[in-house]
Formats: sequence, structure tokens, C-alpha cells
Amino acid sequence: MASLSQKDLLSIEQLSVDDIRLVLDTAEALKEISSRAVKKVPALRGKTVINLFFEPSTRTRSSFELAEKRLSADILNFSASASSVTKGETLLDTARNLEAMSPDIIVIRHSSAGAPHLLGRECRSSVVNAGDGMHEHPTQALLDALTVRSLKGRLEGLKIAIIGDISHSRVARSDTLLFHKMGAEVWVCGPPTLVPADFHLLGARVTSLMEEAIEGADVVMMLRLQNERQKEAFIPSAREYFTLYGLSRERMRGARKNAIVMHPGPMNRGVEIESEVADADYSVILDQVANGVATRMAVLYLLSGKSGLKPARKPR
Ligand code: NCD
Repeated sequence: MASLSQKDLLSIEQLSVDDIRLVLDTAEALKEISSRAVKKVPALRGKTVINLFFEPSTRTRSSFELAEKRLSADILNFSASASSVTKGETLLDTARNLEAMSPDIIVIRHSSAGAPHLLGRECRSSVVNAGDGMHEHPTQALLDALTVRSLKGRLEGLKIAIIGDISHSRVARSDTLLFHKMGAEVWVCGPPTLVPADFHLLGARVTSLMEEAIEGADVVMMLRLQNERQKEAFIPSAREYFTLYGLSRERMRGARKNAIVMHPGPMNRGVEIESEVADADYSVILDQVANGVATRMAVLYLLSGKSGLKPARKPR
């Protein structure tokens, strides 16, 4: 089996179709470890991983930490608020100091687009982008793809609608790039003030009509309004937003039979998604969380130089 063609995982843009398949197949094979009584394998024994989080995170951070533990890595959690960063140290100096402690992999989340790329260039360790500003969130896109592929059996030819605050979402960018690369038909939808004019260049069809995005969709992915990144008022009110762009049971009727609903979290019930939809049996939001651990295990496993794994049976 092949191994990953690069030192770092910085973006979906840099991954080939074969790289994406390699990560998904390896993640599929590693899934089973999380259902064992003893959820641990020695694959990363003796390797050190530093988790460097400069932005708040619940799912991504705990998911990386569990993935590292299940592979037996030694972990150092570095939280920006408790570090010298608050004393004026630059990102590069922080990184050089950490690098002097010889980690094998650095996982970084940062509010500036390109921060992981800078680290990747300067450090010998492998760097994983866990979200950089409004740019990319590659492991989220990979876990979303794993979720869709394991439920639908394929990515090619599916209609995938991504709805919400597209402008401020690194998830929308990484997901669009990945699903388009893998041959899906990606639609993005949101208020015109929250969809970049050039988003079609990433391979998406763009609409401001939710009905058009959902019509015949196999996957409906909802995104949160990223209020913390919005410097102006992009929408009149949360209530009006729900009326135009909220996912309700009625609206889901326009999707294909057996369509699934996804959300990367954190979810704002009643703003972009009706509670009943979030909890419906066609909602796979918690499957995404479970697949997040397997996906991050696969990324760490492959970046540590190991060859990819094949799932025991064909993914369904
Ligand atoms: C997303 C993020 O941080 O980019 N969450 C996540 O990683 N699961 C999306 C968000 O914050 O809305």
C-alpha cells in the first residue's frame, strides 16, 4: 500500500485524489479500534504529538487527543491562553521553542490563514492543520467524506448541498474542494452577503435559493453563522435567517429519499437547523463525530510514515 505523498497535512487543495482515498481507506480500517474493549494500538508508541490550539475548540481538539491516545502517542497539550503567546511571543518563536523539544507531529489551530503552512516550512516535524482562520479545515472535510462514503457507498455523482455562512467557513471551503475533487456535484447556498462571489472557482454551483440547493440532494450540510468572524451585520435577524435559510422538516422533503443531514458543529438549534431535523433518524451529525476520531487516527498514522491500510470489507 502507498503512503502519503507529503510531510504535512495543510489543506485539501494540496491532496490528490489518491491521497484522499488513502486517508479514507485507512480511516475505515482503523474505525474498528474504537469499538474494542481495549481501545489502543501501539502504532505511534514513542512518538510525540503537540496539540497547539490558539482558538477555542471542543470536537476537533478532543477528537485529535483521543486519536493520539488510541495510537499510543505521547501528547503535549499547549493552550495559547496559558502560554507565553499572551506575553508577546511570535508564533514562529513559539514553534521554534516547541520544535527544540523534538516532537514528531504538531497539530495546530490558529485564527490566521496560513499559520500551519508557516510552521510546516519552518519545522522538521509534520504539521496538521486543525483549522486556520477562514481558510481550510482539511480533517473536517476528510471526516465528512468518510461519513458520506460509508453511508452512501460512494462520493462520485452525489448531489451535496452546503448551506449557511459560506464566506466565513473554512469547513465550506475544504468540503467543496474535497467533494468536487472526488466527483460529487457540490451546491453552496446562503444569503448573497455570505457567499463569496468567486466561490464557483472552487468547483461549486452557487445559489441563494435554498429550495434549489436541496432539490434532489443526497446530502444536506448545514453550517453555523460564524458570528465571531462577522464584523458587520450580514443578516437582518436570526428569525428572518431561519425563514430563508433554516433547515426544517418541510424543506427536507425536497431532498432525495434517503438523503442525510450533516453539520460540523457547533450547532445553533432554531437558527440554521430545526431541533427535530437535528435529532431525526436521517441526521448523521454524531456519526461525523465518531468518524472524526478514525479520520484523525488515519492522518497521524500516515504522517508518521506508515503505509496505508485497506478496510477489511468494501465500505458501505
Ligand atoms: C468548525 C470550525 O471550527 O471550523 N467546527 C469544527 O471544527 N467542528 C465549524 C464552526 O466553528 O462553525
